[in-house]
Amino acid sequence: MIALGEINPITERGWLVLSELEKFMKNDENDPAHDLNHHLRVRKTGIEIGKSVGADLEVLEPALLLHDVIRPKEEAKEKTHAQESAKEAERILKKCGYRNEEIKRICNTIRNHSRTDLSEGKKDVESKVLYDADKIDGVGADGIRRVISLGKTRGWNAKKSAAWYLGRILDVAKNERLYFASSKAIAREGITISLNWCERVLGKEKFAKQLNEGGFHSAGEVEF
Ligand SMILES: [Fe+2]
Ligand SMILES: [Fe+2]
Repeated sequence: MIALGEINPITERGWLVLSELEKFMKNDENDPAHDLNHHLRVRKTGIEIGKSVGADLEVLEPALLLHDVIRPKEEAKEKTHAQESAKEAERILKKCGYRNEEIKRICNTIRNHSRTDLSEGKKDVESKVLYDADKIDGVGADGIRRVISLGKTRGWNAKKSAAWYLGRILDVAKNERLYFASSKAIAREGITISLNWCERVLGKEKFAKQLNEGGFHSAGEVEF
């Protein structure tokens, strides 16, 4: 859970967005890995990275807050959720008084965050920050909690969840690396925590085998 002092938006209209987000997500418990807390954590991490790379926070903050807004809805699909979330965000942003030009940039950032749309080169700095912050929420204590809840919804036991999780982490480390040095530095501690958890659940031998098959000789080599 996020401490109250950590959720304060830093832009004026960010407060309006947050209250609309809370209203929209009320009673949505379908997808605990993409609930309100996920958005709040991604906001916090994203603002930290955004400040370090000079992102436009008026665009970045609402994008961080709304990037998966549609996901807890029953009808949401992983493949199209970035597009659908951008659509819903447009409605919310209009309500919160954002100008058309701003809405365009914010929604574009949201559309770009999904790994199904990783077309390198066309991403602006805000899209890259959102991408990094979202990935970072996949590791560390919160990342583990998200995997456990995902495993429950899919009927997996702990070992199956850990094997899937390790596979995802190695995938990101190989093919979906973070953009910014500041993001990589933030991710480091979380990666260690997550790999330790996987090793404990899978056992040393299975863990080392999967690591090797993924092309890594040791846990220390795994970097985002
Ligand atoms: Fe997403
Ligand atoms: Fe997300």
